[in-house]
Amino acid sequence: SLHLQTEHLGREIIYHPVCESTQTIAANKARDGALHGTVVIAEEQTAGRGRMDRSWESSSGEGIWMSVILRPKITPQFAAQFTLVAAVSIARAIEEVTNCVPNIKWPNDLLINGKKVTGILTELQADMDRVQAIIVGIGINVNQTADSFKGVLEPIATSLKMESGTAVDRSLLVSKVLFHLERYSDMYIKLGFEPIKLIWESYNCTLNNRIRATTLRETVEGQAIGMTNDGALQLRLDNGEIKNIYSADIDLLKT
Ligand code: BTN
Repeated sequence: SLHLQTEHLGREIIYHPVCESTQTIAANKARDGALHGTVVIAEEQTAGRGRMDRSWESSSGEGIWMSVILRPKITPQFAAQFTLVAAVSIARAIEEVTNCVPNIKWPNDLLINGKKVTGILTELQADMDRVQAIIVGIGINVNQTADSFKGVLEPIATSLKMESGTAVDRSLLVSKVLFHLERYSDMYIKLGFEPIKLIWESYNCTLNNRIRATTLRETVEGQAIGMTNDGALQLRLDNGEIKNIYSADIDLLKT
């Protein structure tokens, strides 16, 4: 059972022991008019979805696989930053319930000791001038052991239990995530991106590093020098050119 500290988020919860993807269910519910703050959560997903059309490993019942329907009264141009709002919220929540401090790899992967512990997938339903819904899909590796990641994921993925040495109460973590997501979303709506950006920067492990960015069109390398007010990563290429990256896969390069 959840001890919610929120006004709206999680007041409506749709729980599935097993489903294909909470994200798909939430998107359909949102189109059918589900309330702001509705949460779809599953023990196991058989077709978990990640960014860039990848799949997301969520067969074990040891993670948090959930999608939150938000209905902020904003225009579509302000929707993309919600991914960063979510990243900051989850980082805070993890910090509160474990002894681990995660890092955020731009835009929104949470890493501990360089391995991925959380992925976020946000999807937008909008008209020309109004956001209908933002579906924030959150996948947190919580109590998996190394066995769960055998094979390809082992070098790149980890869980909170593996990193902290103790099992984590998933209900507690869910309520903390929802609490901070509500708080930081409100903050973003009221005060704009600036305060969120500052918190994001305090967790980030991307800025001031040499990185490789792979976009749909090209692969570029350079120094990550900042984040713009609309959430883009600023890259200084070796020829001195400054490039703003809006969507890409990032590799941190050793220097
Ligand atoms: C990524 O890093 O590529 C994003 C992964 C997002 C996974 C979550 S798990 C809950 C929700 N349902 C899905 O199918 N995907 C998201």
